[in-house]
Amino acid sequence: MRRILLLALTAGAVQAAPPDGKALYTTWCAGCHGAQGMGDGPDARGFDSKPSSLAAASYKRGTTDKAVLKIITKGVPGTPMDGYGNKLKDDQREALVQYLKVLRGEK
Ligand code: HEC
Repeated sequence: MRRILLLALTAGAVQAAPPDGKALYTTWCAGCHGAQGMGDGPDARGFDSKPSSLAAASYKRGTTDKAVLKIITKGVPGTPMDGYGNKLKDDQREALVQYLKVLRGEK
């Protein structure tokens, strides 16, 4: 009985925790953009459009939260950069927007 209660509490805590932007980045983005965001991930070899450096101080398409969220959600049509609107939840995409600031050295 006690164990069940503990499990229930743990599950609640896990759900309430905000998504971990770094972990999401490692899972979904680093393969192309590289562990440090340099655009040198192993999956990117041979692409015509090279993945952008996400460690750069500014991005081609802007670095406002809104601009970055839009790219993550909709992708860049005609390039290997997919939209993640269907794969990641709102708060997960938002956590990525915040984590990219760490890669840019803003945080
Ligand atoms: C399959 C490889 C691939 C994966 C996986 C990938 N990207 Fe990209 N990404 C690209 C490429 C290629 C571009 C460059 C598109 C262009 O402008 O030609 C890009 C561009 C971008 C840009 C725009 C940068 C700029 O300068 O405007 C952002 C932001 C971005 N990606 C974020 C992410 C995030 C966050 C993830 C993980 C959720 C991710 N990408 C996953 C390949 C990838």
